[in-house]
Amino acid sequence: MEISGKNNPARFSHNYCHALTPSFYDCVMNQQPSSRVELLHHQLNKLYSVEVQLSDTLPEFMQQARSDMLREGIRQHIDTTRSQRDRMYAILTNHNVDTDAPDEDRVMKTLLDDTKSLCRTIDDAEVRDIAILSGATKIEHYEMAGYLSAMNLAREIGEDDTADLLQEIYNEEQSAARQMEGLGGSKGIVERVKEAITG
Ligand SMILES: [Fe+2]
Repeated sequence: MEISGKNNPARFSHNYCHALTPSFYDCVMNQQPSSRVELLHHQLNKLYSVEVQLSDTLPEFMQQARSDMLREGIRQHIDTTRSQRDRMYAILTNHNVDTDAPDEDRVMKTLLDDTKSLCRTIDDAEVRDIAILSGATKIEHYEMAGYLSAMNLAREIGEDDTADLLQEIYNEEQSAARQMEGLGGSKGIVERVKEAITG
């Protein structure tokens, strides 16, 4: 389902919070959950921010990747991430959480910034592809931890529909992490990327 206009989550880039005035930004960042429901909303908002940031940054990783295998893998991951972003937006809306002020996930920002700046310093295409894969794998595991925590909390407070939706995304993250780790075969990332580059 395509979401358009004001309600389109693609409108919000991960730079959105930085565009806010400092006092309002601090206010948003310093919200203190006072109940388990509010804590769940806080976690859902962070997960939405994770998907928004990743949707914004994955195209840059795809551009930097040299091997066809890696570029195709990232291209597929962009589609999945945008779908996850839209589903998180829908979950937040269902919980009446204000999506106009996404609470930026600073851990994801650091993971992305570190991988981006590292890749910009690497001239060797093979080494750069491995750096992209390593960064993406760390990011997937971070996402898995976030979805698992929110899913368990949602289940604990009886929000089973939300927990089921989070479980669905968690399963996708787990599958993506396994794909990136190259666990399906006997060869590691280095050999796989090297093969793809050299053909
Ligand atoms: Fe994701």
